[in-house]
Amino acid sequence: MGKTKQLKMTSCQTTIQILAISGSLRAASSNTRLLQAAALLAPKEVEIKLYQNLGELPHFNPDLDDSKISAVLDFRNQLKNSHAVIISSPEYAHGVPGTLKNALDWIVGSGELVEKPVALFNTSARSTFAQASLKETISVMLGRIVEEASVTFSVY
Ligand SMILES: Cc1cc2nc3c(=O)[nH]c(=O)nc-3n(C[C@H](O)[C@H](O)[C@H](O)COP(=O)(O)O)c2cc1C
Repeated sequence: MGKTKQLKMTSCQTTIQILAISGSLRAASSNTRLLQAAALLAPKEVEIKLYQNLGELPHFNPDLDDSKISAVLDFRNQLKNSHAVIISSPEYAHGVPGTLKNALDWIVGSGELVEKPVALFNTSARSTFAQASLKETISVMLGRIVEEASVTFSVY
């Protein structure tokens, strides 16, 4: 009886899936490294998966929003299959990097961020414009910014 109960509880356990998106395409990116470290240090019931294809997404075009572009479908699916998202991004010229904003534009209409918890990481305390802009964009897309999980690990 006790054994059956124990097995049942184990089969009910779910892994929390988090998609981590780095806003930097740089090979030695501090933001990517930070997300990799988070993935390594995550507790065993949490799986943090790094999104690898930010640079492969085509330029957003509303005319193509409903078309079956594989990179876009894959991005949307990875988001759909995640319980939460972490974004760690540099700031370029007081703004969000174009590649990251482009990725977010692809999911405005499809709505994968709606009600999704989102944590914002940052590797530079000086990058306040990009962080504020990301917050605004994610909020207007109805993503739920989790302030307690949003952290700055300043390496610059
Ligand atoms: C083209 C360019 C523009 C930048 N503009 C800013 C900026 O406006 N504000 C800022 O704080 N840092 C700026 N930086 C510095 C980057 O945000 C910083 O190096 C960042 O943390 C690098 O992230 P990464 O290591 O993940 O690539 C800029 C860097 C580059 C390459």
